[in-house]
Amino acid sequence: MARIGLLTGGGDCPGLNPVIRGIVRKGIDTYGHEIFGFRKGWKGVLDNDAIELTRESTSGILHRGGTILGTSRTNVYKTENGEARVLASLKERGIDVLIPIGGDDTLGVARKLYAAGFPTVGVPKTIDNDLNATDFTFGFQTAVQIATEAIDRLHSTAESHDRVIVCEVMGRDAGWIAAYSGLAGGADVILVPERPFDVEEVCDHIRNRHTTTGKTFSIVVVAEGATRADGGAAATAADTVDSFGHVRLGGIAFELEQEIEQRTGYECRATVLGHIQRGGSPVAFDRVLGSRFGVAAIDAASNGDFGKMVALHGTAIELVALEDALSEPKLLDDQLFETAQVFFG
Ligand code: F6P
Repeated sequence: MARIGLLTGGGDCPGLNPVIRGIVRKGIDTYGHEIFGFRKGWKGVLDNDAIELTRESTSGILHRGGTILGTSRTNVYKTENGEARVLASLKERGIDVLIPIGGDDTLGVARKLYAAGFPTVGVPKTIDNDLNATDFTFGFQTAVQIATEAIDRLHSTAESHDRVIVCEVMGRDAGWIAAYSGLAGGADVILVPERPFDVEEVCDHIRNRHTTTGKTFSIVVVAEGATRADGGAAATAADTVDSFGHVRLGGIAFELEQEIEQRTGYECRATVLGHIQRGGSPVAFDRVLGSRFGVAAIDAASNGDFGKMVALHGTAIELVALEDALSEPKLLDDQLFETAQVFFG
């Protein structure tokens, strides 16, 4: 029996509650642990703000989006005496092992704490699917499903009005959501950060489709982090950066709306899906993956497998070193993009 702490950090993500439920169910029923959930990510650890999680308090949350613990983008290492405060909170509350559930930023803090001597086990989370050492993160399939449904809806209105619609999706510096939803939704062009685009080539695909297939509408899916081949940074929605140094991406769809309309003469509209992609119930895949990750994380915490992260490899859940997950982002697979390209134009 041990006292386990957990937290959810970074952007929220469908599937976080299934992870929490998995940790609590197996942690209490099998190992007899006491489980504490810190509120609002690392902020809760800094402030020693936690609640005890029980079977009762985590019942009925499997299908719920977001996180019952709340989240924040607090960077312990940008906070004065951050590491010392975190270690003091964990000691005061008698936490033996900490399970941070998050993306590269949250897990980066977990890795540093582990290096400082505190036992941690990471659970990878992001709708962007850009974490290395795991085939998928939970939340990604839900985001793709939401974006695909949006693209289906955009088809009928684009067709009715003979328009080109540019649909901007999330993903930060990776094109996973764009490539998957664009392929699933039958996009006519997909633009991703990994392949800087030439706007004239985009227009050529659209002109080609309109002149050779008789179609009078097109759908362009663009990742928020897509950049131009002739240089320049991705479009940003704000001048500020968060505590991990990330800019807020967004707005490329509006630039493309203007440029495609001017160059082709086709009427054009932009739609930015934004946080809709992160909200609401997780799809079944993410509920299952979240539950499996939660159970594997509490097993690792109970077996002394510290400094590790749970990961999906094929169909198996395995443990990898936290640093393997964080060495570099997992960018879009070339083969997938090349398949998507078959359907351009
Ligand atoms: O990392 C998840 C993500 O949704 C990215 O796709 C997006 O760029 C970012 O978070 C948005 O962050 P925020 O919720 O802080 O606006």
